[in-house]
Amino acid sequence: MSDASLETIVSLCKRRGFIYQGSEVYGGLAGTWDYGPLGVALKRNILNLWWKTFVENRDDMLGVDAAILMNQKVWQASGHVDTFTDPLVECSNCHNRFRADKIDISKCPSCGKEGTFGEPRQFNMMFKTPFGPTWGSFESDDKNHVTGKLEVKDKEGKVVSEFTIKEKETNNSVMVYDTNAKVYLRPETAQGIFTNYKNVVDSFYPNIPFGIAQQGKAFRNEISPRDFVFRSREFEQMEIEYFIHPDNWQESFEKWVTDIEAFLKELGLPDEKVHKLEVPDEDRAHYSKRTIDFEFDFPIGREELLGLAYRTDFDLMNIQKASGKNMEYRPKDGGAAFVPHVIEPSFGLERAIMAVLSAAYTQDEINGEKRVYLKLPTHLAPVKVAVSPLLKNKPELVEKAREVYRMLKNPPDDMPGPRNLYQGAVMWDDNGNVGKRYRRQDEIGTPECITIDFQTLDDDTVTIRDRDTTNQARVKIDDLKTKSGFISQKR
Ligand code: GAP
Repeated sequence: MSDASLETIVSLCKRRGFIYQGSEVYGGLAGTWDYGPLGVALKRNILNLWWKTFVENRDDMLGVDAAILMNQKVWQASGHVDTFTDPLVECSNCHNRFRADKIDISKCPSCGKEGTFGEPRQFNMMFKTPFGPTWGSFESDDKNHVTGKLEVKDKEGKVVSEFTIKEKETNNSVMVYDTNAKVYLRPETAQGIFTNYKNVVDSFYPNIPFGIAQQGKAFRNEISPRDFVFRSREFEQMEIEYFIHPDNWQESFEKWVTDIEAFLKELGLPDEKVHKLEVPDEDRAHYSKRTIDFEFDFPIGREELLGLAYRTDFDLMNIQKASGKNMEYRPKDGGAAFVPHVIEPSFGLERAIMAVLSAAYTQDEINGEKRVYLKLPTHLAPVKVAVSPLLKNKPELVEKAREVYRMLKNPPDDMPGPRNLYQGAVMWDDNGNVGKRYRRQDEIGTPECITIDFQTLDDDTVTIRDRDTTNQARVKIDDLKTKSGFISQKR
């Protein structure tokens, strides 16, 4: 049985060291999350699987890692400065702010008063930050009012400009800077790919169709971050811009649907929880001619997991216009040069993590006792195997267990099996009794536990326990060098 509530997943993540609230010790910072030791391992396993699947294992893909801070012209040309907005409303009674399209605006969800919302205004979600030294800043007082005067002087100290701020109402400080020295924290990794399209073509001249992939942080000043990591203000994307001849867009789009479906299986997501939504014209992003949202049955309901969009030549044409640089691709067969069109699969890492954890969450009963375990695919499990002495106060058992642990954790170069199977994701665990250890390892999704007991001292065998069935087998330590108990039979 699975279908855990969001609260259950959040609590497991915190308790077991997957994900913590960002800046928690200071009361938190809304929409930010920190990854603990197991969370970072899970995250890297997903990132690596994605990179291997879509970049390393293919011969039509190249990777980039662009700077997060980009020239502001990027976001003017892409349309984000003008249109990357959500409708914002503010309650005139309690002054809380909401996304107008996510609430019933006839009644404030916070104070309950009716008719307190005016017309929504478009709120741009890009984080802005001064680039280089600012000119000055004003803090608001306890009534949220900012007043002040700022003088800008030349090298001789002569005042060349003066700014006066009168009773500006704000919840933040007011920062004064040269607007030419403003940058945005990127709201998508995609533009770092488009701005490097020409560089990559000049360096590699790949055959078309080809793709450029990037993984990295993105930032959105969401009006209402919510639902754990699902809608965060800082998150990670894994994006591909796949450059094609416009005549082939439909065929290429369909191929990407299939490739994405195969990847979601690798994440261990059950088919029946994945749904494709053909996004209607009025809901599509400003750059897209066709979009399919891949949705997942999250604990919060059916929501977008990732998107697949036909972005046409929108971005390259905008760059060509704004930069004056030619974005055309010259076909190698001597055909006419053209500006490529683009199919864009866009994955969000946090949503993938949430889907993987909620799909893996399982409850069953072993010998009349309830048990929780994460049925993670082995290749995603943060810990592949835990090694324990049966009793931690018996030095001979501890010593033998340490020997086995070291062998699996840092296998010699010529040891074939576990090196590949366990990939160093081996945990030493001597906390509590063996039953508690198994439960803890089950809860973090460790596929196998190895226990060293008194029989080990006699015959050099250990028990290996399988997470999903809880079956145990006795295996010779020597055999661990070439094969494992259960893990080799699993994906
Ligand atoms: N380059 C296209 C693009 O960014 P998007 O639909 O706005 O498209 C793509 O975002 C994916 O990024 C989403 O499907 C989702 O997985 C993830 N994402 C977007 N906003 C997010 C947020 N605030 N928190 C977490 N993930 C987010």
